Amino acid sequence: MKSHPSNQNSSSDNKERFSSSGFIFAAIGSAVGLGNMWKFPYITGQYGGAAFFILFVVCLVAIGLPVLLAELAIGRGGRGSASSSFVKVGGQQIWGRLGMISVIAAFLIISFYSIVAGWTLNYAVSAFSGNLFANPDFTGQFNDFMSGRKPIVWQLVVLLLTGLVVVKGVSAGIEKFNKILIPGLLILLVVLMIRSLTLPGAGAGVSFFLNPDWSKLGAESLLVALGHAFFSLSLGMGAMLTYGAYVEKSQSLGMATLAIGGGDLLYAFIAGLIIFPTTFSFGINPAEGPGLVFIALPAAFSAMPFGALFGGLFFMLLAIAALTSTVSLLEVPVAYTMERWKWTRTKSVWIILFLCFLLGIPSALSLGAASNLNLGGKAFFDWMDFIASNLLLPLGGLIVTVFAGYYWKGAAAESGLTAWWFRLWLFMLRYVAPILVLFVFLHTSGVIKF
Ligand code: PFF
Repeated sequence: MKSHPSNQNSSSDNKERFSSSGFIFAAIGSAVGLGNMWKFPYITGQYGGAAFFILFVVCLVAIGLPVLLAELAIGRGGRGSASSSFVKVGGQQIWGRLGMISVIAAFLIISFYSIVAGWTLNYAVSAFSGNLFANPDFTGQFNDFMSGRKPIVWQLVVLLLTGLVVVKGVSAGIEKFNKILIPGLLILLVVLMIRSLTLPGAGAGVSFFLNPDWSKLGAESLLVALGHAFFSLSLGMGAMLTYGAYVEKSQSLGMATLAIGGGDLLYAFIAGLIIFPTTFSFGINPAEGPGLVFIALPAAFSAMPFGALFGGLFFMLLAIAALTSTVSLLEVPVAYTMERWKWTRTKSVWIILFLCFLLGIPSALSLGAASNLNLGGKAFFDWMDFIASNLLLPLGGLIVTVFAGYYWKGAAAESGLTAWWFRLWLFMLRYVAPILVLFVFLHTSGVIKF
């Protein structure tokens, strides 16, 4: 491995920069998404509540944060895309090719993540308008919605909104959008948390979420918690690496890592304090699975005073969280194509979104209108999710840990860590993270089963 310090300021460097608070908001915006509000509550429900939550926190802090710092440092060191930054900080070409795995992963994820984001927008509109609560058959409503063309239309709306933000660029688009919506999201979350905590019987939900039952934990929960910590921090998809390229040299990456991790946990924690008290208060099983949010919660909202308002706010919150994540996902292939093919930002944004939309159509239909769109018993949507989240994400994470832990000579300087913290970081990157991430990969890809 050769070091090319002169490359760090070469003419191919991108010139766009975040302000320091703008970067923190944008990165929290990327991290906080459907993962926190939709997936986290139902997997916590499935794996036994508080004990799983604690395991998730441990995985996030011990493995997630070191990998997050590595992504940010590689990005800022290289000032390129999720592929070229590896080479620009001194890695051989092969690392750039490996980095492309993340670019592809981000592209695939947009194509199906935006579908679920579209459901949340549809639900927000239909809750506010009162339509959602006009018919108490919420399972029927969800199935009707899924079996029509509406999911595609709403996905298109999500993609267009995402494009309108990203096309404006890093500071006038991504930063501004997140600086307004991320604090707004916190206010909405707190309002809903107060509503949930004051429902009759809310205490049982709180204790399910906060009193651990360790007997429920096993090796599988560890791997699920770790996989989710990665997804939740937006790791392994090049998103944090790409955002890192826009961070000023004067910003402390260590502090930023703590702020992003803390922000992600805070939003997940409050989401838990909304969902569990509500589900317990209305006698709903929190292990209900993906339908929890779209089927079980509307039933709860419909039975509470001002349910249309609170339900509308809840789905709006989900939609905002999802949009700040799709924005970060889109920036990954956009940065890549702008650099690689010298496309303008506008051209990159709309071509990539158009392709995501095309790829999204079979995913959206495979869950409803065209449920025959499946292979080996798995719907097209689930295949996309499987390939991106279960295969490419851990692979992307592994590449980052191995590169920063073993190959990158400039890691200490770029991270800005003091000697003691640097040693701890390196230890995690070399010996702990790769082994555990490899296990996650073997587990999610189906090689090892419990
Ligand atoms: N972190 C987001 C969530 O929890 O919903 C999802 C995500 C966004 C994953 C961006 C990966 C990514 F690059």
